[in-house]
Amino acid sequence: MSAAAGGEAPGPPSGFAKRVLVTGGAGFIASHVIVSLVEDYPDYMIINLDKLDYCASLKNLETISNKQNYKFIEGDICEPHFIKWLFETEKVDIVLHFAAQTHVDLSFVHALEFTYVNVYGTHVLVSAAYEARVEKFIYVSTDEVYGGSLDEEFDESSPKQPTNPYASSKAAAECFVQSYWEQYKFPVVITRSSNVYGPHQYPEKVIPKFISLLQHNRKCCIHGSGLQKRNFLYAADVVEAFLTVLKKGKPGEIYNIGTNFEMSIAQLAKELIQLIKETNSESEMENWVDYVDDRPSNDMRYPMKSEKMHGLGWRPKVPWKEGIKKTSMF
Ligand SMILES: NC(=O)c1ccc[n+]([C@@H]2O[C@H](COP(=O)([O-])OP(=O)(O)OC[C@H]3O[C@@H](n4cnc5c(N)ncnc54)[C@H](O)[C@@H]3O)[C@@H](O)[C@H]2O)c1
Repeated sequence: MSAAAGGEAPGPPSGFAKRVLVTGGAGFIASHVIVSLVEDYPDYMIINLDKLDYCASLKNLETISNKQNYKFIEGDICEPHFIKWLFETEKVDIVLHFAAQTHVDLSFVHALEFTYVNVYGTHVLVSAAYEARVEKFIYVSTDEVYGGSLDEEFDESSPKQPTNPYASSKAAAECFVQSYWEQYKFPVVITRSSNVYGPHQYPEKVIPKFISLLQHNRKCCIHGSGLQKRNFLYAADVVEAFLTVLKKGKPGEIYNIGTNFEMSIAQLAKELIQLIKETNSESEMENWVDYVDDRPSNDMRYPMKSEKMHGLGWRPKVPWKEGIKKTSMF
């Protein structure tokens, strides 16, 4: 573990209204959240805890890395003694827990690693946060905990029926987090979001993968039929959602962070081919697509209702055409 932040010694400097611990902050979504928090909340100290796994990059945070209200600490959520020390020294008020193993394909191969990091690591973190009497603990989960559906729209009370090791580990971690509310009224909040896209996403995920393949004149590889549909939210909209939950999310509650905008993977490939290869010819587009074996399980859709988030005043704003253009130019 190492602290790397403008020479600041361990321990909380005085003068910050809140001290927010963001885990996994060198990853895709949390890095966007940290940049917004550091810029928009100068009276909050933002502490980024990340073990710098293969998908992490501190470059995502270059614009704010020298700010007085930001600190990076390299470390692992699966190390209880270190995590206890962190809460003792940093006097954390709020936790936003993003750190996880996140790639569904890898979860079929390294399932136990997903259980270890996502379930055990989350338990270590929530337990230490409880001991430290943190005032709010936000656990970032996923729509995948619902399993797939063709027409039923999931709301927050729908049963969890995960169908892959990644989703199962996120669902199991939710149970541990929720149990701290049930047992102790420890103020936890759980979010379940749709697929997120935008700049800085590691190119193992479908949108940056297809963009990167096409930019290197290689074909988009589509799992199975390509008819599976996914809801896509732009990163800036998701940042707004987390800031809303931070301010207004109620203890013990679960919030779906979703969008009605959905697209099949085959259609996604088509749109990216049009954008990057600048063609509308159907036969030319077919040349940029390769159908490969499907995953052991691949849910058809994750339709979700997000009325609870709408009730807090959040709605996604960035249109797909604008978001995907910004993402592909990055
Ligand atoms: N990307 C999506 O579309 C999406 C959708 C819904 C929910 N989520 C959830 O949002 C969170 C962030 O997703 P992402 O796509 O930005 O992830 P990511 O893979 O880009 O980043 C994960 C980060 O966690 C860090 N990390 C991993 N294990 C760690 C450990 N043991 N200790 C400390 N840090 C560790 C990694 O180094 C990395 O920086 C995850 O919890 C994920 O389940 C993601």
